[in-house]
Amino acid sequence: MNTSNPNRRDFIKGAGTIAAASTLPLSIVEMAFADPAQSFTFAHISDAHIQHIRGAEFVRNWDRGLIRAVAETNLLQPKPDFVVFGGDLAQLGMKEELDHGAEMLSRLDYPVYPVLGEHDYYLDLGEYWSQLFKREHYYSWDHKGVHFVVLNSILTTDEWTHERWPTARQRMLEMAGLDNPNGSPFMVGEKQRQWLAADLDKVPKDTPVVVFSHSPIQKIYKGWNFWTDDAEEVQALLHPFTTATVVYGHVHQIQYNQIGNISFHAVMATAWPWPYPQAYAQAESQLPKLTVPMNRADPFFERDATGWQFVDLKSGRVSMEYNLYSNTNRTVAYNPETGQPEDSVYQAAGGRIAPQIHY
Ligand SMILES: [Fe+2]
Ligand SMILES: [Fe+2]
Repeated sequence: MNTSNPNRRDFIKGAGTIAAASTLPLSIVEMAFADPAQSFTFAHISDAHIQHIRGAEFVRNWDRGLIRAVAETNLLQPKPDFVVFGGDLAQLGMKEELDHGAEMLSRLDYPVYPVLGEHDYYLDLGEYWSQLFKREHYYSWDHKGVHFVVLNSILTTDEWTHERWPTARQRMLEMAGLDNPNGSPFMVGEKQRQWLAADLDKVPKDTPVVVFSHSPIQKIYKGWNFWTDDAEEVQALLHPFTTATVVYGHVHQIQYNQIGNISFHAVMATAWPWPYPQAYAQAESQLPKLTVPMNRADPFFERDATGWQFVDLKSGRVSMEYNLYSNTNRTVAYNPETGQPEDSVYQAAGGRIAPQIHY
């Protein structure tokens, strides 16, 4: 972590004030470069899962998660340049849910770059989402020396999408289940990979590249779709770059990994935490080897795995500080000596609560 940068110090100081009152997750990303004029921050909020009940009623707990993250983002000093929303704004892709979620996001004082989650997509295949946000399903932009890409990583086969289900709602419900065997593995797909190849072709190879996806662009656990089927093909397009980072939602938990030149960081949800796959005795764990799961006794304690993060991209490498509510703070920083992200505030094994077994 870069503690010698004055911007960083000021930022932490301001953040501490907010952390003291904070119970909800948002991710704060600091881009610090040698030229102070180039330094900037952005925030990342993800997985709000706004859920319609009937009429004007929505699940209040999920609403509150997003409302609070938006309010805290608006209070940040320094002001972030923009906010990324990491997908799963809705629970079942309904217009009511997307409208209500977008209305809450519209209270942000900053531009928002949205990512599609499977919960936003599988009712009408992203049509209303695009209309609402005036965005394509995947896109890129440049900001102060960094190339940012948003991917739609939650696609699957044409047969599954278009032929298998009698109604769009049935398709949505099948994809909404975490461990539903009728779901289908996610993928970016060939058309989008061709677009990405052409997009990255124009970018100098020493430019830091940051990719936002909903599912991990790596293979963690297929049974819960913590998975992207063509992850290796997408990673190959990032390999020519000196530094590349993938920031993803969907898993509702802290994860990190390093594959070649690519650092991977997951962000937390505003709605609820998922347990780690290894907490299930019957499941073979494919959690990235580098990830030290956070110490939590009950993954279903609603605010236990929530918090917010700084990402310091000094020299294009990520240092992420997770500020957790009701749990020990964590810092995952790139270690140039080992060439991978590491827990620099590491919980010794003896102090951790053992994974819980669920049946
Ligand atoms: Fe989610
Ligand atoms: Fe998701």
